Amino acid sequence: MCGIFGVVNDKAATETLLKGLSALEYRGYDSAGIATLTEGELDCRRAPGKLINLEQVIEALPLEGQTGIAHTRWATHGQPNEANAHPHLSLNVAVVHNGIIENADELREVLSASGVCFLSDTDTEVLPHLIANYLSAEVCPALAIQTALREVKGSFALGILIKGMEDQIIATRRGSPLVVGFNSESAFIASDMVAASGMADEILYLEEDDIAIVKAHDVVIYDAQGELVERKKVTVDHDQFVATKEGYDHYMLKEIHEQPNALQRTWNGFSSTSLNQIEEIDFANIDRLQIVACGTSFYAGLVAKYWFERMADLIVEVDLASEFRYREPPMPKKGGCLFISQSGETADTLAALRFAQSKHQYCLSVVNVPNSSIARESDYVYRTLCGPEIGVASTKAFTSQLAVLFGLVKKAAAERQAGKGILSELGKHSEGDVISRVRSALMNDEKRHAIERAARIFENATSAIFLGRGQCYPIALEGALKLKEISYIHAEGYAAGELKHGPIALIDEGMPVVVVAPYDRLFEKVVSNLQEVRARGAKVLLISDKLGCEMCKDYADQFIEMPTLHEVLAPFIYSIAVQLLAYYTAVQRGKDVDQPRNLAKSVTVE
Ligand code: G6P
Repeated sequence: MCGIFGVVNDKAATETLLKGLSALEYRGYDSAGIATLTEGELDCRRAPGKLINLEQVIEALPLEGQTGIAHTRWATHGQPNEANAHPHLSLNVAVVHNGIIENADELREVLSASGVCFLSDTDTEVLPHLIANYLSAEVCPALAIQTALREVKGSFALGILIKGMEDQIIATRRGSPLVVGFNSESAFIASDMVAASGMADEILYLEEDDIAIVKAHDVVIYDAQGELVERKKVTVDHDQFVATKEGYDHYMLKEIHEQPNALQRTWNGFSSTSLNQIEEIDFANIDRLQIVACGTSFYAGLVAKYWFERMADLIVEVDLASEFRYREPPMPKKGGCLFISQSGETADTLAALRFAQSKHQYCLSVVNVPNSSIARESDYVYRTLCGPEIGVASTKAFTSQLAVLFGLVKKAAAERQAGKGILSELGKHSEGDVISRVRSALMNDEKRHAIERAARIFENATSAIFLGRGQCYPIALEGALKLKEISYIHAEGYAAGELKHGPIALIDEGMPVVVVAPYDRLFEKVVSNLQEVRARGAKVLLISDKLGCEMCKDYADQFIEMPTLHEVLAPFIYSIAVQLLAYYTAVQRGKDVDQPRNLAKSVTVE
């Protein structure tokens, strides 16, 4: 959600800034902009739309300077036009901002009364003017900025340039992520490690309300109380953060194909880490588990509910973070909470974690980005080891989350002495079985082409329905979400049994209905639901295994046959089918698969 980047003392700041922005573009692509200091003066270029537009502006009107800040925007306040693009400037201050200033209207009123003329509709524009009011010759600029920011409510990560101070960027954060990186020649600021890692050899994470004076060869940091502090630098593992398409047409397709390796790595590395001295959770000591997440991560949580309840005899509640955090549910003493987040920065999930901690809950998390806020603030962290996910629609992160959750379910089953029957049915090689089936589904050209052909079911569709039962109900929800996200077809996922309580009214002649149904103990029930929609004119695409497809050969219009796997493990394999289905649909419709409209990868605002 908005990416900020900055470089100090790079010979060609603009080139480096554009490179940093391109690594951050997945966070937002409504507009982009850069400000630099040239001979002490502020200069700026901005453009609406994707980064390429800014590149064209800069090509026509180059921007000099060795120190600069840059921004790629996901619009919150004000339309995605040039006036609202960052950086925002006062006479002597330029600011890039990720987050939301909640009291922007009040600040704007006060500043307007003192003669400030605003040029944009953004909340951010108050910041350069407010900061300018606090700068004076007597006080260190960083401390002056810190004082100014005490008037600000909301969340922010900021990169700030001050006229005349060519050797530095001032960086600060509250509630939004920000890292500072270094190599032998330059220093950087970035919203995430992926962007900085292409250039920096060492990185440090700023804490809440830290304010840093970032210079090419050193950094001075004041904490929230204005005391000088040091933050630990960590060495960047460049290989870990490589993010290229590697010959695939899109990041999403590459990431779909990375799933067998991602699952393997995640299971091989299944272990927890903790920054605190808290003893690891014993699932035998809790009566219920509260799972909290957003988006695709929420659906991973829903799959886990079925698993925990069936295999570990543990009651699980799954909540959307944005609801959970304000619902203020009563929390049992020594309760267990599990937060799932690819980015580890989703504002609502982070706030939910903080709420649970204030209620003395035992807080576990499943995250992909190491050292993210959720990872740092949890009692115990389990990592999905799938590498950076750049496509905005989550794919490999989802199945890797399932891998960690499956590992946790087995741990819980052992500690609670539950699920023996089902675990012995699954056998010792269940993880290996999953990986080999996922690999065979992806390697089989004929199968992939069958999915590509099946995607034509949506050719003239404006609306679609996904149905599933049991563990495949969340996969139906995820399939509908994937389709909406990248092809903009209105799609809804339903529990197949719920269909007749309303959604069936939507069915009319030719409407595509995707039925996600492995041949399992609920199969016959799903087939009845399939017939109900077909009788009303729907075009049915059945995703099942060999047996399921054979059983339904007269009832569905199209089929995607997936490898056979124990029903408990079906979510892994059926995820692949719905991901590819959405992918090919979006490609056939000519949509921007990796950067769908209005979305962003990491949602660091409410
Ligand atoms: C955004 C992304 C989704 C993601 C959700 C939760 O909406 O576009 O792909 O599932 O945020 O993100 P998280 O990083 O917390 O998993």
